Amino acid sequence: MRILVIGGDGYLGWPTAMHFSAAGHEVAVFDSGVKRRWEARLGVRALAPIASLHDRVATWKAVSGRTIHMYVGDVGDRSDIAAALRAFAPDTLIHYGEQPSAPFSMIDADHAIETQANNVLGTLQLAFAMRDLTPDAHLIKLGTMGEYGTPNIDIEEGYLDIEHNGRRDRVAFPKNPGSFYHLSKVHDSNNLMLACRLWGLRVTDLNQGVVYGTDTDETARAPELATSFHYDGWFGTVINRFVAQATAGVPLTVYGEGGQRRAFLNIRDTLQCVGLAAANPAAAGEFRVFNQFTESFSVGEIADRVAAAGRALGLSVSRQTVPNPRVESAKHYYNPKNSALLALGLAPRRLTEDVLKDMLAWAARYARRIDPRVIQPTVDWRLGGGLAVADGARGFASAGSR
Ligand SMILES: NC(=O)c1ccc[n+]([C@@H]2O[C@H](COP(=O)([O-])OP(=O)(O)OC[C@H]3O[C@@H](n4cnc5c(N)ncnc54)[C@H](O)[C@@H]3O)[C@@H](O)[C@H]2O)c1
Repeated sequence: MRILVIGGDGYLGWPTAMHFSAAGHEVAVFDSGVKRRWEARLGVRALAPIASLHDRVATWKAVSGRTIHMYVGDVGDRSDIAAALRAFAPDTLIHYGEQPSAPFSMIDADHAIETQANNVLGTLQLAFAMRDLTPDAHLIKLGTMGEYGTPNIDIEEGYLDIEHNGRRDRVAFPKNPGSFYHLSKVHDSNNLMLACRLWGLRVTDLNQGVVYGTDTDETARAPELATSFHYDGWFGTVINRFVAQATAGVPLTVYGEGGQRRAFLNIRDTLQCVGLAAANPAAAGEFRVFNQFTESFSVGEIADRVAAAGRALGLSVSRQTVPNPRVESAKHYYNPKNSALLALGLAPRRLTEDVLKDMLAWAARYARRIDPRVIQPTVDWRLGGGLAVADGARGFASAGSR
């Protein structure tokens, strides 16, 4: 396959690009570098030092002998994305290139608008570019399980069969997201569904759970190939954040009672899932939806597991209850389906104590780089703006002063 990874400089995009390249596919990355600018604005950095995209590609060539082509551009810029599609002529596009943080989108009006403009308009630009330049290519688009929210019924994969006043139909599963970031993904889904119906595009929408993990077979091959693991309150997903907190000896920040349940998967399973989607493309005109996760846990259960793994390594791990900055149910029904990827052959990795111990051991190598001041949540989702958390205001101060 000729695979274009949009957002190929990111936490998931860079390992994905190397994974497909290692498997013998022709791979290109496309990235605007905007995530690095957001990190600079908020005063945060990935836990392991991250090489420039040019150095990553050069190191990959040195260790694997394989070339990853590179396009620096904004997917929302018509000439940038058109130039890449013309030059590389992909048959498969994997679109990770969006603003990925819910808290970032809830800072204030500017950040909500920036998130939706970047994500929704970028994906719309891509849909038109594909229609005109690569109409038979397969788009694999990263959405999120957060699009569904936490309904009081089972969550199906994208669609719901309903009976209403004696008639039956299949409709898009109702979405009830909790942030302007998650809502940007809902808008993407709606736009792409229409693009498939109107133009016959092939799209797989991957409603992905929360990803955890520090490395993959390819990132482990050289320090310059490390992926951008974040632990901060903006870009750090909960398991990754707890691992860094346990490593640094600061209490695990459990939001509210910790009863909120979410779907999770290992970064290595992200690669597996995207690989299965690419090898089994959607049909022309099909908007296919897979729920991409392997397990679900409450936030409290995750804290318990990280604490147990940390103690097994001799760390002293404690837990701190912080007022929940998010607007979400403290306890709720949660039963999402994930049978489509399992049917294609997904072999899930579980969040075992050994997996957590490996993550803790990896994080310990960079322990001196952990800055506890950037971990506390600093945005109240009811108001936007700053939440009064001692030492936690740094990120917001820099974000708010732009
Ligand atoms: N990490 C998770 O837990 C998770 C869970 C569910 C869904 N997702 C989704 O998966 C995707 C990748 O997530 P990630 O954690 O790797 O995020 P990331 O921020 O590490 O990577 C995204 C990359 O896309 C680039 N980008 C953003 N906007 C762009 C644009 N307009 N043009 C070109 N490049 C652009 C950024 O520079 C960055 O390198 C995102 O769409 C995210 O919403 C992530």
